[in-house]
Amino acid sequence: MARKVILTGAGISAESGLPTFRDPKGLWARFDPMDLATPEAFARDPAKVQAFYNDRRAAARAAQPNPAHLALAQLQRARPDEVLLVTQNVDDLHERAGSTDALHVHGRLDEARCDSCAHRWPAPARMAAGDRCPACASGLARPAVVWFGEVPEHLDKVAEACSRCDLFVVIGSSGTVWPVAGLVDIAARAGAQTVEINLDPSVRAGAFDRVLAGPASVRVPEWVAQVLAGRFKL
Ligand code: APR
Ligand code: ZN
Repeated sequence: MARKVILTGAGISAESGLPTFRDPKGLWARFDPMDLATPEAFARDPAKVQAFYNDRRAAARAAQPNPAHLALAQLQRARPDEVLLVTQNVDDLHERAGSTDALHVHGRLDEARCDSCAHRWPAPARMAAGDRCPACASGLARPAVVWFGEVPEHLDKVAEACSRCDLFVVIGSSGTVWPVAGLVDIAARAGAQTVEINLDPSVRAGAFDRVLAGPASVRVPEWVAQVLAGRFKL
């Protein structure tokens, strides 16, 4: 049973060149999420939504894992049953760094799914409006990404793990999107030690026992080295 739950957000992939959402040059500073990341937007203009995710899929494929992703994969290898990795990110940089079984609560760019049956399949590089589900043929193919107004995936399993962990770490998240932003409260109520690793303290920094400020590519390898040497103290 995982004693450590690690939750990552867009900030862990920032130094791999993938934009975050709410930083000054973030995606939602340049695009309107209500136009691109809701079921209504997909129904209204599927070509526009597919094009947005095609571009993000291509950017994710061109990006490389950075030292933060690699350090978390090293921690998982060193402590295989102790760590549950949860990510809000839809890129596959954790997997390409060597992490296993990451739970993508907001879905994944490299998967497609049907909007009427439960079928999922590896996403092609580019998806187009009108693409159909290969299983039921009637449903429309959409990115397997969780949109605003939809329920995050794996939430029960993640909340259960947070209620039993002894260490909860959030890396590179603004803590502004619920219910994921409330996981720290579940962990704290369970008596876990809680740590935030972020370039700048997030709006939820006050909910954490410790904030390690700095770029993920520096702070995460440092933290993992301390944990592996048994030297990490709050
Ligand atoms: N190192 C560490 N943290 C960083 C770095 C970095 N190099 N660069 C940015 N950050 C931090 C920012 O300070 C910010 O707190 O990463 C966080 C990014 O916040 P958001 O852009 O809001 O991303 P995230 O928290 O993952 O968003 C959650 O919102 O739109 C939805 O589905 C989307 O999964 C996403 C969710
Ligand atoms: Zn289908």
